[in-house]
Amino acid sequence: MLKILVTGATGNVGQEVLSLLQSHDCNICAGVRNSNNAKHLLGNNIQCVPFDFTDPDTFDHAFFEVNKLFLVRPPALANIPTQVAPALNAAKLAGVEHIVFLSILGSKHNRFLPHSQIERYINQLGIKATFLRASFFMQNLNTTHREDIKVHSELLLPAGNGKTSFIDVRDIAAVAVRTLIEDGHQGRAYPLTGKASFSWCSRHWLRFVPLYASFGQL
Ligand SMILES: NC(=O)c1ccc[n+]([C@@H]2O[C@H](COP(=O)([O-])OP(=O)(O)OC[C@H]3O[C@@H](n4cnc5c(N)ncnc54)[C@H](OP(=O)(O)O)[C@@H]3O)[C@@H](O)[C@H]2O)c1
Repeated sequence: MLKILVTGATGNVGQEVLSLLQSHDCNICAGVRNSNNAKHLLGNNIQCVPFDFTDPDTFDHAFFEVNKLFLVRPPALANIPTQVAPALNAAKLAGVEHIVFLSILGSKHNRFLPHSQIERYINQLGIKATFLRASFFMQNLNTTHREDIKVHSELLLPAGNGKTSFIDVRDIAAVAVRTLIEDGHQGRAYPLTGKASFSWCSRHWLRFVPLYASFGQL
């Protein structure tokens, strides 16, 4: 049976991926740093295996008989050669056949982004891959930016005249699961965005903030 290792399992996207994978006929494994915390978040139905990008001792067991890897770069790991590449080398050695990598919109055009470095490194290793180049998560608004919206009713970001196509992490997870389960997505890169783009000017926020408040998210 297909065995899939999900990294970032306790995070925004990983949790949703695990939840959706449960309705498919495959062996799912969550790669986690703290199994107690993971059990608390994910429940007892998900099999957990110790996995830490910065601890090579966890690699052999985590990648054992894994066919497919859902790869999330933890935001704190920015030094790709020392903090992410060793795990990818181990995945290659273990025979992982396909990596679905949560990348970022624009990674193709900015070689300095950690995500761009990871995409290139996976290609260098010759592991088949699908790159999910996601836009700004809608959930950033009720996590990272929650206090600013709640307390100040505004967000100050260096966005200029740029527009952002917010995407729900549940939609990213739905695409991730299709690319893990279905054939035909290897060697592909998908930009993932919401339906519409919004500027960051106050004219839009005045309408946007009450909308979220009314959903009880704040
Ligand atoms: N936010 C956005 O708008 C956006 C848009 C596009 C792409 N992205 C990218 O998406 C990724 C983050 O995804 P996310 O928001 O789903 O994750 P997240 O909620 O930030 O969670 C990070 C995950 O990484 C795990 N982790 C942290 N350090 C680790 C380590 N040393 N070894 C193994 N696992 C470790 C955490 O596990 P613990 O429970 O052990 O801490 C957690 O499961 C980043 O690469 C980010 O750049 C974000």
